[in-house]
Amino acid sequence: MADVAVQSDGRSGGIVIKDDWPGYSLDLFSYPAHYSGDIDCVIIPHGVIMDRTERLARNIMDDLGDHDIVVLCVLKGGYQFCADLVERIKALSRNSNRTIPMRVHFIRLKSYLNDQSTEDLHILGAEDLSFLAGKNVLIVEAIVGTGKTMKALLKHVEAFRPKMIKVAGLLVKRVPHNSACLPDYVGFEIPDRFVVGYALDYNEYFRDLNHICVISESGKMKYKI
Ligand code: HPA
Ligand code: MG
Repeated sequence: MADVAVQSDGRSGGIVIKDDWPGYSLDLFSYPAHYSGDIDCVIIPHGVIMDRTERLARNIMDDLGDHDIVVLCVLKGGYQFCADLVERIKALSRNSNRTIPMRVHFIRLKSYLNDQSTEDLHILGAEDLSFLAGKNVLIVEAIVGTGKTMKALLKHVEAFRPKMIKVAGLLVKRVPHNSACLPDYVGFEIPDRFVVGYALDYNEYFRDLNHICVISESGKMKYKI
């Protein structure tokens, strides 16, 4: 099933889920009955997300653990990953002698309608980020596709002159026009399929699903707007 992607700087690009990975049968896990028929398979079980997040937290602590951090959580999809990642950073911080002061700030991006990216990116809650000046910033995103959104957000954040910016992305999608803009910390590299769950939505549905799953064609029809 899985491999490790290695980036040119030698860092892990995340656990690679290959295109031919069929996912786990839904019969093997529990999920909300109201989504029966709306998803095809479990592509990443909740427990694996948590275990990978724990390791990302350690990598982040190794790199940033000596400085204050401002976490920029990208809503809505990033809320669960951000909450779990921050919990694990706090636990590591508690269990070591290096406690790091952390602030968490929320911004909201919206660019998807149904399963398609739209051209107009809206950044909300990011009008005045002047408190980032001179700080170490960790942007936390659930999913990176073409990298266009991340690029636009980085440009926006850079304008407020932080000392350093790092990006943690739970998922990176292998899409045809992936720009070279990759997160510094990647959970999983996944096939170019529309996934839901663990706070990732399809028209606001499926955020209440714990596992990351592939939406079915009938699920797309049912919740289309
Ligand atoms: N699922 C949910 N939201 C998304 C996705 C996806 O696969 N890609 C970009 N935003
Ligand atoms: Mg969405």
